[in-house]
Amino acid sequence: MRLKKFDIINSKKIQNFKKTIKVDSDKSLSIRSLLLGSISENISKIDNLLESEDVFSTIKCLKKMGVTIKKKGKIFYVYGKGLGSLFAKKGTKLNFGNSGTLARLLIGILSTTPDIDIKLSGDTSLKKRNMESLIKLMNEFGATFYPNSKRTLPFNLRSSDIPIGINYKAGKSAQLKSAVILAGLNSFGNTNIIEKKKTRNHTELLLKKNSNAIKLRSTEDVNNIKIFGKKTLHSNNMKIFGDPSSAAFFTALTVLKKKSKLTIKNVLLNPTRIGFYFLLKKFGANIIFKKIKMYNNEKIGDIIVKSSNLKPIQAGSKYYFNSTDEYPILFIIAALTKGKSTFKGIEELKNKESDRIKEMQKIIKQIGIRSIYKNGDLVIFGEKKIKTNRVIDVPSLGDHRICMSALILSLITGVKSKIKNFETVRTSFPSFLKLVRYLGSDYEIKSR
Ligand code: S3P
Repeated sequence: MRLKKFDIINSKKIQNFKKTIKVDSDKSLSIRSLLLGSISENISKIDNLLESEDVFSTIKCLKKMGVTIKKKGKIFYVYGKGLGSLFAKKGTKLNFGNSGTLARLLIGILSTTPDIDIKLSGDTSLKKRNMESLIKLMNEFGATFYPNSKRTLPFNLRSSDIPIGINYKAGKSAQLKSAVILAGLNSFGNTNIIEKKKTRNHTELLLKKNSNAIKLRSTEDVNNIKIFGKKTLHSNNMKIFGDPSSAAFFTALTVLKKKSKLTIKNVLLNPTRIGFYFLLKKFGANIIFKKIKMYNNEKIGDIIVKSSNLKPIQAGSKYYFNSTDEYPILFIIAALTKGKSTFKGIEELKNKESDRIKEMQKIIKQIGIRSIYKNGDLVIFGEKKIKTNRVIDVPSLGDHRICMSALILSLITGVKSKIKNFETVRTSFPSFLKLVRYLGSDYEIKSR
C-alpha cells in the first residue's frame, strides 16, 4: 500500500502548554528486535513495537525471507528460523523503503547467510545514500555486490559460502558496527570489534544474554566486542519504550516556548542516545529525568522539561556519537538562540535521509539566519527575534527529521511554513502530528 501524500501548512504560533505525553516506541530497537528474532531459536515476543513505515518495511523484507511474524493483541510474535536460515529464491527483490538501518543491518545478516543472491533497493532518499563502507566490510566476510561499481542502491547481493570472522575498528556508525556483529554471528571463527567512540549499543545489549555468541568488555575509553560465530541464539521477550530521538522534538518545542512544561513518559534513556539532552542541559535547559529503571538491559524513564533561557550551544565532536539524529532540531534551537553556536565533526550528516547540513542551512536561511559550514563544522549565528513576513518552504526530501524540525520552527516563530510530503514522518513517528495538535497547534493538512 502506498502512503497518502500530503503537505503541512502552518502559520500560527503555538500557545503555551502544560501537558503530559507519550511518544512512539524506539525505531532502532524495534527494527533490531525483529531482525534478531528472525535469526534466533523459537518465538520472540515484542510488546509495544513501533508501528511505523520503517518497521513495516522490516516486517515485509523478513516475510519475503521466509520468516513468520504475527500480531496478536498488542504483541508481535516472530517465529525465529535460526541463524543462517533466512532464504529467498535467486533474484528476489527486497525493498528497504526509507530505512538505512534496515538496509545495513539486514545486508549484514544476509551477507553471511548461505545461498543468497537477491536484488536490493529502497526509496528515492535511500537510493541516494552511499553504501561504500558497508560494501567493503561485507566483502571482507566474502560477500559480493554487483554490478561491481555501484555504491548506491539498487544493487545485488551474493552471500559468502564460507564466511570467516573479521577484525574491525569501528568508526562513527552504529549501523556499520551492527552489520559487522550480525555478519559475524554466522561466520566461522571470531569477529573482533574495537570501538573507541561509543555509538548506540542496542544490538550488543539485545544479544548480551547469549554469552556463547558475544562477549562485551568495556573500559572508559574503549569497547571490545567479541563475536563467536555459528552459535545458536536465544529468543527475546521484549518491551520497547519511547524513542528519545522522537522525544527530542517536543523537548525542543518546550525549551523554546515561554511558560510551558511537558512530561514525556517512559522514554528509552540509553546513555548512547541522550547526548542531545545533556548538551541542552549544559547550555541552560531545564530538563530532568525521573522514575529511571532498567528493562531488558536498557535504561528508561520520564523526561520533564520546562521553558528555558538557553545560551548558544557549543557541541564538540564527541556529541556526534550520542546525538547523531538530533542535529536538525539542534540547528533550529541554535537558530532561535541569540549568539554563535558551533557544531563540530558532523560531516556524516551529509549521508542521512538527506544532506542534513545543506538542507537545514537552507531552512534557517529562509528566516534570515546566517550559518557557515566548513571542514565538518557548522556555525549558526542565532537570533532571538525573527522577522515573520517570510515563508519556510521545505521541498520533498524524504527526510522525516527535517519535516518535524521545520514544523517546530514554524510553531515557535509563527513564520508561515509549507512542508511538502510530510507523510515521510510516518517512517519514524506516526503520532507526531496528533501530539502537536494535542499541544494546541492548528496546522493545516493539504492532500497532494
Ligand atoms: C542508527 C544509527 C545511526 C542513526 C540512524 C539509526 C541505528 O546511523 O543515524 O537513524 O539504528 O543504528 P549511523 O550508524 O549511520 O550513524
